Amino acid sequence: MIREIVVYPDKRLKLISKEVSVFDGALHELLDDMYETMRSKNGVGLAAIQVGVDTRALIINIPLADEEGESYGEEHSQNDQPKENTLEMINPVILKKDGTEKFQEGCLSIPGVYEDVERAKHVKVEYYDRHGEKQTIEDDGFLAIAIQHEMDHLDGKVFIEKLSFLKRKKFEKEWAKRQK
Ligand code: CO
Repeated sequence: MIREIVVYPDKRLKLISKEVSVFDGALHELLDDMYETMRSKNGVGLAAIQVGVDTRALIINIPLADEEGESYGEEHSQNDQPKENTLEMINPVILKKDGTEKFQEGCLSIPGVYEDVERAKHVKVEYYDRHGEKQTIEDDGFLAIAIQHEMDHLDGKVFIEKLSFLKRKKFEKEWAKRQK
């Protein structure tokens, strides 16, 4: 089922999401709905809070043709995000990160806005899959950026908070105008 996406500056986007302790049918339904919702908006990643659920769960599905994409969160329309390619991360924790990289990011909760953001280039992350099995993943490309962007949502942060003061001010002004 496609759920409604929480749009900035909705206060729910500031919530610190809670750890998942039960890996049950309700969690699976949430993850399945998140995939459908993400696909319906041509997104590449989504955190549970973006559908209003404050639980530490996120999904990422990098389009097959976009593996070398130049922008994270950019809308795309090809049918190249098979469900089995979806990375589902529950209670993720960054074990290691190093390097820096600037990447253009976007977010389904701030549709139509793309800005350069600096993050770690390489991350190693521990997480649980939907069955409660512990997993680790390591990446130094597009996926590493996606993981950091989505993990920020679990801690109530959105990518525009990483912009410079002036860019942030400009964004807020333009966003307010658009909301009218
Ligand atoms: Co986002």
